[in-house]
Amino acid sequence: MRYPENFITELVERSDIVDVVSGYVRLGKKSGSNMFGLCPFHSEKTPSFSVSPDKQIYHCFGCGKGGGVINFIMEIENLSFPEAVEFLARRAGMPVPEEENDAESRKRARMLALNRDAARFFYEQLSSPGGQAARDYMAKRRIGPVTAKNFGLGFAPDSWDSLRKAMRAKGYTDFEMADAGLLRKRENTGFYDTFRNRLMFPVIDVRGNVIGFSGRILGDGEPKYMNSPETLVFNKSRNLFALNLAKKSKCGYIILSEGNIDVVSLHQAGFDSAVASLGTSLTPEQARLLSRYTDQVIIAYDNDGAGQKAAQRAIGILEKLDVKVKVLRMSGAKDPDEFIRLRGADAFRNLLDASENQVDYRLKSVTDKYDLAVDEQKVAFLKEATDLVARLPNGMERQVYAMRVADLAGVARDAVSGEVERRRRRMIRSAQKTTEREQTRPERLIQPDGRALRYEDAASAAAEEGVIRLLSIDASLAKNVPLPDPEDFSAPALGKIYRIIRGRVERGESVDANLLGQDLSADELSLLVRIQQKPEILSRGEQALRDYIKKIEERKDARQQGTDLLALQQKLKETKGYRG
Ligand code: UTP
Ligand code: MN
Repeated sequence: MRYPENFITELVERSDIVDVVSGYVRLGKKSGSNMFGLCPFHSEKTPSFSVSPDKQIYHCFGCGKGGGVINFIMEIENLSFPEAVEFLARRAGMPVPEEENDAESRKRARMLALNRDAARFFYEQLSSPGGQAARDYMAKRRIGPVTAKNFGLGFAPDSWDSLRKAMRAKGYTDFEMADAGLLRKRENTGFYDTFRNRLMFPVIDVRGNVIGFSGRILGDGEPKYMNSPETLVFNKSRNLFALNLAKKSKCGYIILSEGNIDVVSLHQAGFDSAVASLGTSLTPEQARLLSRYTDQVIIAYDNDGAGQKAAQRAIGILEKLDVKVKVLRMSGAKDPDEFIRLRGADAFRNLLDASENQVDYRLKSVTDKYDLAVDEQKVAFLKEATDLVARLPNGMERQVYAMRVADLAGVARDAVSGEVERRRRRMIRSAQKTTEREQTRPERLIQPDGRALRYEDAASAAAEEGVIRLLSIDASLAKNVPLPDPEDFSAPALGKIYRIIRGRVERGESVDANLLGQDLSADELSLLVRIQQKPEILSRGEQALRDYIKKIEERKDARQQGTDLLALQQKLKETKGYRG
């Protein structure tokens, strides 16, 4: 959701950054116009965290974090943008506006209302005489009425137009229903209901909005599920089924499973923190969403090859976000739903308690790949397993797992742990070499600190930063200078910041860092503030801007020729038949 510009401006004005930051950091020692304190985002003994009362921004010269007052609250209170806005609004005694009153947000609100009405319609059908087939199917799957109500399950009648009629009676148009994915259009005959004769699972976001539907066929048949298409309000890769319920769980972890039915069964059996990823394998966006509600995920995917592969992928994605991951191992059932039906909730509870941390899990996956009775395979196993163990940061853990690997392969424990440590030393040496190489590169000097942001073309990046800096200090400089395309920028992060700033300049809007938090990530905002901190001589601003732009264009051409040259070289090598 976007807030009206003037609301954010007023909120920022009423939330003086010095006041707000002082609630968390002792600010003292004025230097120039800035106040300094110990950075709350990294540990330090001498203050490198500065707050500018004039610009209303903060910046840490140590860790590189920076931004406006909203961004500060996001970072320190670990809140999303809207949550930080609410936090500050409460502090300032300002009401938060509902939604920006533009055409798109009206459309969005209308689509959400339609979805809610449709969900209600489906829900009512479930208890109507026509809903017998669905009730039978639910009984067969042992989904009780309380669970059905909790999830808002419903039934889409076996008819081409029952939803359409009901929603038209409520004033929605065919086009609105088609936009929401509830109707489809046939060549000449018009619109018909998308979901027919299906058990309906509404997808509800964390704010309680019905954003889409998933409909399961009653019994066997293809396709098993039909899902809402991507709409103005529904994006499969950014939402999780049942997170609206799971986020309220007190159990401290989230269970990630594959199927809607699994989630429903799990909740019914008392595991109220189960979610599913809407038919896709876990996406980075879904993982980020999860990490806002928990720091531990237990993966309970299907017990087949695809499920195990998806689990491996999910582990990788979640680990990057510092989420602790465990993996549940089931046997004798294909998925959590079947397991609970066959063995009961207590048995599933035992599985949860016994779920393995991801090292165990990975080790077992490596073990399963090889036949350890065959010497050749045993060697391959040892190689892969020692490599895995050598990567563990904790020495004690390496010891324990090295012993486990030795026992599995039936070789001496000392031999394996010796090999693990040797490998580890080799890994560290080669990592150090890479860092040294990077540090001695001259362009390193102007590299930003964020690991995600590394400039490929330092000369161009310096000029790109210059353009951003000048425009954000004095947008009027752009009046007589044709601005380059964001695509001409060599650094994607700078290109993105520039695109947003240029858009605002063109629309005559302010480019205050405090207003850019809705469009930039924390890292990008920090980068922007860092760029703004660097000195710039403004007396010849327009000429400087032209110079920077010229540089960017030159570098773009050079890069273009460089890649051509590289391609040519490659071709020559290939035709001469030697390898690169
Ligand atoms: P499953 O086939 O495992 O379904 O697909 P399920 O929900 O566990 O149902 P049962 O137990 O077999 O009856 C897992 C998830 O993948 C998505 C759905 O979100 C489903 O819950 N899916 C599956 C689709 O989107 N389309 C399909 O055709 C099949
Ligand atoms: Mn399943």
